[in-house]
Amino acid sequence: MRRRAADTALEMLNCGTLRLARPGATSIFPSSANKITNKQFLMSFGANQRLRSSSSIHGYSELARERSKAVTSFYNQSAIDTSAEKASVRLTPFSMLYSGKSADGHHILSSAKYLHKELPVRIAHRIKGFRSLPFIIGCNPTILQVHELYIRAYYMLCEFPAIKDRETEAQYSKLVQQLLDDHKDVVTMLAQGLRESRRHIQDEALIRNFLDTTLTSRLGIRMLATHHLSLHEDNPDFVGIICRRLSPKKIIEKWVVFARRLCEHQYGNSPLVRINGHVAARFPFIPMPLDYILPELLKNAMRATMESHLETPYNVPDVVVTIANNETDFVIRISDRGGGVPHAILDKVMDYHFSTAEESTQDPRVSNLFNTMTNSGLQSGPMHGFGFGLPTSRAYAEYLGGSLTIQSLQGVGTDVYLRLRHIDGKGESFRI
Ligand SMILES: Nc1ncnc2c1ncn2[C@@H]1O[C@H](COP(=O)(O)OP(=O)(O)OP(=O)(O)O)[C@@H](O)[C@H]1O
Ligand SMILES: [Mg+2]
Repeated sequence: MRRRAADTALEMLNCGTLRLARPGATSIFPSSANKITNKQFLMSFGANQRLRSSSSIHGYSELARERSKAVTSFYNQSAIDTSAEKASVRLTPFSMLYSGKSADGHHILSSAKYLHKELPVRIAHRIKGFRSLPFIIGCNPTILQVHELYIRAYYMLCEFPAIKDRETEAQYSKLVQQLLDDHKDVVTMLAQGLRESRRHIQDEALIRNFLDTTLTSRLGIRMLATHHLSLHEDNPDFVGIICRRLSPKKIIEKWVVFARRLCEHQYGNSPLVRINGHVAARFPFIPMPLDYILPELLKNAMRATMESHLETPYNVPDVVVTIANNETDFVIRISDRGGGVPHAILDKVMDYHFSTAEESTQDPRVSNLFNTMTNSGLQSGPMHGFGFGLPTSRAYAEYLGGSLTIQSLQGVGTDVYLRLRHIDGKGESFRI
């Protein structure tokens, strides 16, 4: 993973920057704020590139040292501090939905202008978050790598000229798409980096606050960026990322297929999923957060079901998903009969990095299947791993003005309630 990100970093610096920079401009940094030159910056990445081939501990710590130098050289620059002092301007999905769709594409230009102002501010807030991490965590090479990604994104976005016409807007959209791609592994990288370094820190609240803020802010940034890019598409069911008539049943079904395939791959079978309640409900909503939360909850329910029925894997109880829709919000309840969450761990399952995955892979009945799966090169990832599924889903739900709660019927099963507020409902809407 580290190797891929280092390649991306070089790609971004070698091609992306030059392709997108203003004619004649060679630096990706505002010249007034330049304490470190573009050349020096490239050289530091050149050093990283050389070092990334080394797998020795020496190479690893060298890499960390080089990264640390590149990142700390930005501490003295005032541009990030100035942006971080500004408040971000959060939009309601309602205003995004009805901001108009002009035939001349004026709405796309306004959206790009808004992003052009807003993204550097949001990214500067995140950089501040990395800077305030305890030193020992901030020095972890994987955390440094993410920190670096944010710094580069900040400068690339700041450097971009004012958006005046369609041509600059098209270039800007390219940059936004490129940054979305470059940052797609950030959650895994943070999970990995913090797992490596957090044992040095006893303060659970500190890690939780950092991750809650970083991950939800990232979700907001990605929603805004994807919304802008999607405004170019002509899909009558969508306005940007907002689906005008989202069917919760349909989106649940999509993720059921995904989770069952993963489950079958790992355990040889998977529970059936029955969907009941308001199955015909349709309303305007943003599928993106559901696309993250639903697979996580379904994977957990299926894993619990299979692991509590290891003696009878071909005869397992169904998972039941109930949809409840009302004028203010909608609830998706996922009920499994996987034995429940034991009392002893109930208040830990929402902690980042808490997982019983290791214990289950030590069970020979599970580990045989698990090894088959991890060696198969399956791209969609395992059923369980970092202990990020529940805490991240809860953080996303709360960011969207909702909640995620667990009711465990120890010895029988678990009910997980995902409650999300309507974007055009009676209550006050959330802001992205
Ligand atoms: N439906 C459930 N039934 C029983 N236990 C559960 C259920 N959902 C979660 N858990 C417990 O909570 C722990 C944390 O869940 P979480 O989804 O956060 O992490 P994970 O599934 O272990 O890893 P990840 O989701 O990051 O791949 C799980 O390891 C499991 O022990
Ligand atoms: Mg999980």
